[in-house]
Amino acid sequence: MTAREGMTLTHIGVVGAGQMGSGIAQVCAAAGFDVLVQYTTEAALGRSRSAIANSLQKLVARGSVDQEKASRTMAQIRYTSEIVAVCSEADLIVEAVYEDLDLKRSVFAALEKHARADAVLASNTSAIPITEISSKLTCKDRVIGLHFMNPVVLMSGVEIIRGEMTSEATFQTCLSFLHALGKEPVVAVDYAGFIVTRLLDVLMNEAVSLVEEGTRPEEIDKAMELCAGHPMGPFKLLDLVGAEIAMHGMEIMARDFGDRYKARPLLKRRVLAGLLGKKTGRGFYDYGT
Ligand SMILES: NC(=O)c1ccc[n+]([C@@H]2O[C@H](COP(=O)([O-])OP(=O)(O)OC[C@H]3O[C@@H](n4cnc5c(N)ncnc54)[C@H](O)[C@@H]3O)[C@@H](O)[C@H]2O)c1
Repeated sequence: MTAREGMTLTHIGVVGAGQMGSGIAQVCAAAGFDVLVQYTTEAALGRSRSAIANSLQKLVARGSVDQEKASRTMAQIRYTSEIVAVCSEADLIVEAVYEDLDLKRSVFAALEKHARADAVLASNTSAIPITEISSKLTCKDRVIGLHFMNPVVLMSGVEIIRGEMTSEATFQTCLSFLHALGKEPVVAVDYAGFIVTRLLDVLMNEAVSLVEEGTRPEEIDKAMELCAGHPMGPFKLLDLVGAEIAMHGMEIMARDFGDRYKARPLLKRRVLAGLLGKKTGRGFYDYGT
């Protein structure tokens, strides 16, 4: 069965309770969808719950939402450790697990097996072509890329990527879904890195080579913020995204577009050392956690 045109969505599944899965769950719940999130470890579950609660409290403190709306949003999000449970009720499932092709393929194989035959299956990958993720599936027409940006709650744009076999019904359903979330779809073509990662990774990698040559990360961020008008310099961005995620994106693009995307040795070394950014408490900046 294919995704139905104009399908009304009520239940959203999220696979992966990390940084992005949690943000996606929060914006879906805030828009009134029932959300079921799959986690793999108790630690990830705890981090996800507190990240969403903290984010909602910040929005309340800022006056963007009232306490009642924040409580309602929290109550719309449930968790499970079983992918089958996510599949049993979801109209649309967003995969947000680690950026690893084999892992994503195994998640999609499980989604194909257990999800409803008309459910839309979306990946939040930053860089892996959707056609590659779906290549071993029979339900390729229902697979699509929805590349939410970090932090999901604050960033209004979402890249929407059709794989080679994605149906028009799937695409239209996802356009309506993004509008329901209050997000602005940006249509990208299905090549590694799409638009945003393809351009940002060149910037971040080149910034790392400036550090290798002796410039301080703080000066580079200052230059890009004060001289180029970027809202956030490349190292603040790298620390937010996660160095391993950025490096993995570069590896995929180096494969398809050549050496200009080859991750700099310093970036590789820092990933190996676990200096991934905010998530580990230390990246190019120290977050003191
Ligand atoms: N971090 C960013 O800025 C950013 C932005 C846009 C897109 N993305 C993409 O979103 C995806 C997730 O990135 P993240 O930053 O949230 O990573 P993360 O490391 O914060 O979270 C990944 C989560 O996946 C979970 N997981 C691993 N295997 C799983 C499985 N089989 N089933 C269920 N959960 C599983 C892990 O427990 C972890 O909680 C990646 O594809 C990444 O490229 C990341």
